[in-house]
Order: sequence, then C-alpha cells, then structure tokens
Amino acid sequence: MRIPARGWQKDEVFAALEDKRKDDLAWRGGRAFAYVYDGGPAVEEVAKRAFVAFMSENGLDPTAFPSLLRFENDLVAMARAHLGGDDEVRGSFTSGGTESILCAVKAARDHARKTRGIGRPEMIVPVTAHAAFHKAGHYFGVRVVTTPIDPETMRADVAAMRAAVRPETILVVASASGYAHGVVDPVRDIAALAAERGLLCHVDGCIGGFVLPYFKRFGAPVPDFDFRVPGVTSMSMDFHKYALTPKGASVVLYRSAELWRAQFFACASWTGYTMVNSTVQSTKSGGPLAAAWAVLHHVGDDGYLRIMRGLYDAKEAIVAGIRAIPGLYVLGAPEMCLVGFASRELSVFRLADAMHTRGWHVQPQLAYGGSPENLHITIQPSNVPHVASFLADLGAAVAEVRAAPAGDAGAAEMARALATQLSGPEGEAMLPALLDGLGIGSSGKLPANMADVNTLLNALPRDVQERLLVHVVGRLFTPPRSEP
Ligand SMILES: Cc1ncc(COP(=O)(O)O)c(C=O)c1O
Repeated sequence: MRIPARGWQKDEVFAALEDKRKDDLAWRGGRAFAYVYDGGPAVEEVAKRAFVAFMSENGLDPTAFPSLLRFENDLVAMARAHLGGDDEVRGSFTSGGTESILCAVKAARDHARKTRGIGRPEMIVPVTAHAAFHKAGHYFGVRVVTTPIDPETMRADVAAMRAAVRPETILVVASASGYAHGVVDPVRDIAALAAERGLLCHVDGCIGGFVLPYFKRFGAPVPDFDFRVPGVTSMSMDFHKYALTPKGASVVLYRSAELWRAQFFACASWTGYTMVNSTVQSTKSGGPLAAAWAVLHHVGDDGYLRIMRGLYDAKEAIVAGIRAIPGLYVLGAPEMCLVGFASRELSVFRLADAMHTRGWHVQPQLAYGGSPENLHITIQPSNVPHVASFLADLGAAVAEVRAAPAGDAGAAEMARALATQLSGPEGEAMLPALLDGLGIGSSGKLPANMADVNTLLNALPRDVQERLLVHVVGRLFTPPRSEP
C-alpha cells in the first residue's frame, strides 16, 4: 500500500472510514463493559464540537494559545477541589492515566534525587496497582517492589508494604480504586506509613477519583482516599473515563508546587526553540483539553451526581445478582462500579466466550498475585438500563458452560508443557508457529474462541506471557504489503 496517487473525494474517504470500522466493538448498545464511557448523544455532541473547535491549537507553547492555558488551569482547579486539595495543590493536564502515572513517578524520582540524594530509587506497588507503574519504573529506572494483597478483600497489605521499605524507597502507591476488582486500598494507613518514613505517597484515582466523591456524597461507604488524608502527596484522576470526556484527558496533582515542578523537563541545549514541557508530550492537540472543559461545564455537578447514582445502583444490583448465581463469586466488595468475578467450578474464559456469543463484552483477567482468573466489568452509563438482561444472560451462560464437556484440564496441561519449552533458549523461535496454531494470524484478527488462548496464557509464567503478548500484538500491527 502507498499514498494514493491522486487524492480521493471527501465522500470516498468517509465511506472508506465507515467501512474500516465494520468489525469494531459495538459500544453504543450498552452491552460493552469496557473501553468506552458513553455519556449519551448530548454529551457526545458537546464533546465533538469543542474537540473539533480546538483540534489544531497546539499545547506546546502555553503563551501562544492562552485559551489552552485557561482550560488547563480551570480543569486543575476543578480536579483539586473535587479531590479535597487546597490552593497549594498544583498539577497538569495529561493525555491519560498512564501519562499521569509516568509524570508522578518521574517527579518522585527527581525529587528524591534532589532532596535525599537517592540514585537507585525503588517504589512499593501492590500487585493490584495498574501496570502503568511498572511501565514508569521501566522507563525511568525506578525498581518496582511488588507487595501482596489480602486475598479476601483484594486490598493492599499494608504490613507487607511496611516490611518492603528500604533506604532507597522513594514512593508508595495506593489505588482508589484498583482497576481489576474496584476496591479501594487502605489509603489512610498507606499514607501514614509514607509520612512516618519520609516517603512520597501516590494515590491512583485514574478510574475511581472522579466517581468516588459522588458515591460518598449520597452516603455510600467509601473510605477516605484523597488529599484530605495526611501523607498523600500526589494523585492521578482521568477525565476520559467517568467524567465522560473524549480520550486524551487526565490530570496529575501534587501536594506542593515544588513536587510538581520535579515533573517538568526543560531543555535549552539545542539549536531550536527553548523547550519546557510540563508533561511527557510536547506538541499536543487542544482538542481533548477543550472537550474536557466543555463536557464538565455541560454535565455539571448535578448531572454527574445523577449519573453516578445510576452507576452505583447498577453496581449494587450486579454484585447482588452475580452472588446469587450458583458457581460464581465476586472478588472483594467493590466500592467502585467495577466488578471482578470468578468461579471455583467453571472456566471463566469459556464463560467470557459464552457471553460474547450473547453480544456482551466482558474482560477476562488472568490469575496473578492472589487474584484468581476472573472476569471484569467496568460499568459505565450506557450499561445501566441493561442490568437485568445482563444478569439473565450471565445465568444462561453459566448453565451453558456447566453443561459443556470441559477440556480445560488438557489445555492447562498443554500450557505447562509448552511453558517449559518456551522458557528455553529456542522459545523465541517457537512463538510464530504457536500463534499460527492458536489461530492468531496476521490478518489483525483474534480467534472467535478465545477460551483456549486465555487458558494457555493463564498457565504460562509471566515472562513467557509478556513475550507472547508482544508477538501477538506485533502480528496485529502488520501493515498491508507494498505493491510495486
Ligand atoms: C486504576 C487505573 N490506573 C491507571 C489506568 C491507566 O489509564 P489509561 O488507560 O488512561 O492510560 C487505568 C486504566 O484503566 C486504571 O484503571
């Protein structure tokens, strides 16, 4: 494939775009519990108009487009008020939860280097914390020390975190909530540990930070988790999740301007413009920023409170409904509208496929660190009217999986045998043939029956899983061949 020799008419372009999306996840119908936070047509219209209006403006230079600076300052002010921060709290708008976390870890590293002379930094991260902390550790040379969770509550084990503190520790992490199970860590105890040992404490509120203050306001039992808790030094909160704004919108906040500035990067050591970036990105569209500002103003506190009430009630109904289905159980007691559920009798991977054939998208999660393999749902506004039919279909899918002959023991056995081979020196060379065998081709498609793939992945050691995933995704991103 090459750049078309002659440009296409607009209509041709748009027809081709529509054609390309024909296999996309159908998220508008309220049956997808992942990826899209659907605020409905009115919110979408406001978001689109604001996005397009500021699409071309560049956040690279805050003096060239003061509009973008104003949007960002307003959003940071709204976020810190929402999270109990005072006017000393400073922060930045970023492209998403991962960038917010990268910024927080980079700031912690540079701050510890400057104030404590730490050259080989470490951070303590419960196994339930988002993978973005591992990514940040990898990018910025901060060693990630993982700590276990309580297998009943799925919350971080604070005693284990305490035991993991060493002279090189710079940061401890809590989630409010974690993604996988929707439970809030004991932030008060984790932040107290940080304060006592002179460490920084980041609370990851990427997914829960916007929602939980609303849940608390109408009386739901949500533990304290934000800047009101002494010892919390930074927080992340995404707008592009439950604030229902277009993707590319999050915020990272710090207790002080001094800590915040450790996130910046300035460079005058080249021949071009003097560069100072507050975040990872440099040139960036004003679209996500303007759209976030617009959506927050359009929905407003009263609108969000109404939406959050619906989400909370849906979560309560779904948790109760899953608990009532024999063979399933909910992991922990989620405060957030995120639910992980597992089974001691049935393959959850087959259950995911059985739900898929009924038109529902639920997310398989592999076993790790005391969390068994399970299915995750992120309940978002367009799911709310479909709770009853979801639970009915889940009950039917459980019955179907129970009735089907189980071949999982064989798959797990095969996985164990393969794991030994894949861990060996010839492991890398075996991966392409293995992917062919699993039906993961270079056509950009995964097999309809994902249960076998997930069962195999689940039984493999972490490092083999990671290598395999890199190959899978590398295959998906195979560009069309160049014709002569
Ligand atoms: C708790 C938590 N932290 C961080 C992230 C990463 O956010 P993003 O996908 O916007 O980079 C997520 C994403 O779901 C999350 O749930």
